[in-house]
Amino acid sequence: MQPLVDPFERRIRYLRVSVTPYCNFRCSYCQPEGPVLDEHHREELSPLELEKILSLFARLGVEKVRLTGGEPTLRKDLEEMVRRITSIPGIREVTLSTHGLYLDERSASLAEAGLSRINVSLDTLRPERFARISGRDELPRVLRGITAAQKAGLTPIKLNVVPLRGFNEDELGDFLEYSARENLHLRFIALMQLGVAKELYRKSHLSLEELQERLSSFGDWEEQRRGESDGPARLLRRRSDGLRVGLIDPLSKNFCQDCNRLRLTHRGEVRNCLFGEGIVALRPLLQRPDWESALEELLRKTLLQKPEKHRLEHCDDGGLYSLAKVGG
Ligand code: 5AD
Ligand code: SF4
Repeated sequence: MQPLVDPFERRIRYLRVSVTPYCNFRCSYCQPEGPVLDEHHREELSPLELEKILSLFARLGVEKVRLTGGEPTLRKDLEEMVRRITSIPGIREVTLSTHGLYLDERSASLAEAGLSRINVSLDTLRPERFARISGRDELPRVLRGITAAQKAGLTPIKLNVVPLRGFNEDELGDFLEYSARENLHLRFIALMQLGVAKELYRKSHLSLEELQERLSSFGDWEEQRRGESDGPARLLRRRSDGLRVGLIDPLSKNFCQDCNRLRLTHRGEVRNCLFGEGIVALRPLLQRPDWESALEELLRKTLLQKPEKHRLEHCDDGGLYSLAKVGG
């Protein structure tokens, strides 16, 4: 099969899959849909449907899959999904973005199912702040979860921090120390001015330039060449101990340049771009006897519309569906 290539010669190797729109945190800058009360109203793809769709993607050249949400660990069948996806020929790596609340219990089973590594979103190391930003007073449990993930070998673990003026800007040193001690890759994700975050943006946005300046009081940093797996991050390495810090600005001009990813939503729609533009439903095709060729044709057509760059700067509403875990 011909690999998937978009009109800008970007070969699609990476697929982000949102396995649920729900989350049981209420982070002030995000707040996706609440937890599900009625299981029957779920539209989420089953592990089998996911396997079917992803096996086609794999034949078209996708090698890496990241499971996101909402909060993916809200799905009880996440292990089964991981097991099915990792057994697809051609898929080299399955990773997970999570808030970390359930890692203590589930790291071992996820690793056993074949999960390679995880990203954890964590914006503060202080319990009372954690409760304030996420709506859950559960910092110790998340920290235990990170330790459990470490033990289970879901490494290297990336820690995604959204820097917020007046909230966690005084914790830079703590984050560096924690990451160095626990051997985590620290990444700062600039706050995006989307949906509920619009108000917040005005008073709390902290630019990565400013952050980088502040980093200089915590050591001597060298800029690293980016590897393919780093996605759209700028990487700094501390000379004294090799600590790696990534700086990611989803709205920056060059974010899209090397974009080699597509998104699949929890109900089986493909999105060309994190920021909308071109959505197509795959599910209706799955029952057809010729589903494979029909799906392939549809995907190629969709990809023709993959934008060269997102147009977010010119657009009032980002239209970010549920949550864009942009941090790779
Ligand atoms: N700005 C920046 N990052 C966001 N995330 C969600 N909403 C936003 C936003 N408005 C990302 C962060 C967070 C992850 C769960 O989702 O990376 O860590
Ligand atoms: Fe949930 Fe993550 Fe959004 Fe927080 S940022 S509400 S943990 S999906």
